[in-house]
Amino acid sequence: MAHSALASLVDAPSHVSLLERFRRVRSLSVAWSRLLTPEDQMMQSCADASPVKWHLAHTTWFFETFLLREYLPGYALFDPDFLWLFNSYYKTLGGHPEKSLRASFSRPSLAQVMDFRGAVDGGIERLLESLDTMADATAREVAERIEIGLNHEQQHQELIATDIKHAFFTNPLHPALRPAPLMPGAAPAADEWMNFAPGLTAVGHGGSEFAFDNEAPQHMAYLADFSIAARAVSCRDYLAFVDDGGYAKPNLWLSDGWDAIAAQGWHAPLYWRRAGERGDGPWEVFTLHGFLPLESLMDSPVCHLSFYEAEAFARWAGHRLPTEFEFEAAARDCSAEDFLDAEKLSLGFLHPQASRSLLGQVWQWTQSAYLPYPGYEPLPGALGEYNGKFMSGQMVLRGGSVMTPHGHIRATYRNFFPPGTRWQFSGLRLAQRRSAGPR
Ligand SMILES: [Fe+2]
Repeated sequence: MAHSALASLVDAPSHVSLLERFRRVRSLSVAWSRLLTPEDQMMQSCADASPVKWHLAHTTWFFETFLLREYLPGYALFDPDFLWLFNSYYKTLGGHPEKSLRASFSRPSLAQVMDFRGAVDGGIERLLESLDTMADATAREVAERIEIGLNHEQQHQELIATDIKHAFFTNPLHPALRPAPLMPGAAPAADEWMNFAPGLTAVGHGGSEFAFDNEAPQHMAYLADFSIAARAVSCRDYLAFVDDGGYAKPNLWLSDGWDAIAAQGWHAPLYWRRAGERGDGPWEVFTLHGFLPLESLMDSPVCHLSFYEAEAFARWAGHRLPTEFEFEAAARDCSAEDFLDAEKLSLGFLHPQASRSLLGQVWQWTQSAYLPYPGYEPLPGALGEYNGKFMSGQMVLRGGSVMTPHGHIRATYRNFFPPGTRWQFSGLRLAQRRSAGPR
């Protein structure tokens, strides 16, 4: 029987035990690995990315470091070198290798990393079995840390998707993760605005279910009247901006954005290219199913935009990006229709589609800087480095994408990246003053 203090973690909201969820989350990482060759899993094709093998080891390191090492009596480290080798950025835990060196980890082998996963999985299962023998406070801390470890692994599963997509795009053969299933032919979402009256509203996480520390504390925020588009900006919309010379009009761009498109040679979203030997054929878009004609994705949300491109598009369209609180207020009653699970990974269409929900297809840039909420407190100890120390120079994205794992998105979730980041499934949704009227 679970401790009463753990009831909300163990039994709610999905009525699936923590042990069962641990197994499910861990198995999705292995499912990713099985779709790839060992060589694929060594690729680190851009500064944002890490090799899949590293993700598999680092997510395991998290459980060993923050749980087994501290709470499982008699646990012997799988390999003492792994403690620093697979540390990502936790300075209070000592040293770690430079991120750019992760592709040099040919050793340990993939097989050894899988052995590491197996050993740590066994340790966590033993730890969960012993929860009832612990003091309430300790048992609660253990369960909460396992919950963080699962959510951490889910974040890395999404990074596996974006990192391997970039790796395959970089490969001259442009391989597909697997062929596309029958094209789903999503209908365009309604071209409407949702209107909100001015007033105070509660934002941030306030319930008993899991949320990251940066989503709290819940607090009141005043929102002026606003309207937010019922659908994300589509590829069709964005192509009109490209065709109108949007990338060549300096009045549309923030200063840093104008410098970025000049320095990077951006002229379309990441993964868009013109077909044909002379680059003058029809547009096509690289996906996890290989290149697909843009024509077939016209009603899909545009993705792989930087904040600068999202902001310039909104300016060109005569509107603006929503704030993160406007987005949260609009998304509060939404549920995601499309989450990644093992079945979707092996059979589904792995690219955003048109949707009426604000959640679950594409991350959406907001105009909000990633900052602490009033009264924010990082977690105690080394885990305090998880979110808080990145609150500088980054912008908030909301919504979750088609590659976000099942059960890992909610209206209060704050993703964050530097404004020039494009390798995520990042798009946008328009907003405007309500009094501006429908477009
Ligand atoms: Fe991590």
